[in-house]
Amino acid sequence: MTQHIEVLPDKTALVERSVALIVEKIQTAIAQRGVCTIALSGGSTPKPIYQAIAGHDLPWDQLHVFWGDERYVSPDHPDSNQRMAREAWLDQVPIPPDNIHPMPTGSQDPETDADLYDQHLQQFFKLESDQFPCFDIMLLGMGDDGHTASLFPHTEALEICDRRVTVGNKDGEPRLTLTVPVLNLSRTILFAIAGENKQGALAQVFAPEGDEQTYPSRLIQPVEGEIWWLLDAGAGAKVTASD
Ligand code: 6PG
Repeated sequence: MTQHIEVLPDKTALVERSVALIVEKIQTAIAQRGVCTIALSGGSTPKPIYQAIAGHDLPWDQLHVFWGDERYVSPDHPDSNQRMAREAWLDQVPIPPDNIHPMPTGSQDPETDADLYDQHLQQFFKLESDQFPCFDIMLLGMGDDGHTASLFPHTEALEICDRRVTVGNKDGEPRLTLTVPVLNLSRTILFAIAGENKQGALAQVFAPEGDEQTYPSRLIQPVEGEIWWLLDAGAGAKVTASD
């Protein structure tokens, strides 16, 4: 596992660095394999990152966009991760509609929709029934409780290792999420984390000893790929940068 930890002076620098790294990884994947698969995170931190990526001239027809997690709401709901990414980025660039692979939330049953996305990943990545996809880029954020994607503390989703997609639970609110094995198979995992309110959880995530159930981001350890932790000064005050 190759780990990089960068602490940027402020959120603007964090966004700029994140965009530069994402664009570089997209271009590398396409140069090496003719296609790039990226899974997006939701929340507030990535929105300016997505807005800035939209300003780049990339081979959009060779980029396939997925989501790492999704709130269980309609695509036009204000809380939808899909809606945020489309408005900030995907609606602003000529990416073919078929290259956008949102998590479905229309069956009124989160388990059904999790299965549908699981099957979609199997078909797209041409997997056997027991194989997991390898995303080129996995964008992640982290909550102030140490959750990532929709893998919340002390929830069943943390234990699911035999499925690609499962149902997360945030205080009783269902969410769809990729599972830990899928996140960890990615070639590049990129955490973009900003804000002093993340400082405590980050210190726990980077502590030599700790409880993965309480701080699920501790579970994110790439099997063969690399992990980048891009932190602003507020979030990374108790973390030692390393290359
Ligand atoms: C979501 C995200 C989630 C997010 C963290 C951090 O659906 O909300 O995928 O895991 O990355 O909650 O969110 P902020 O960037 O808003 O702090």
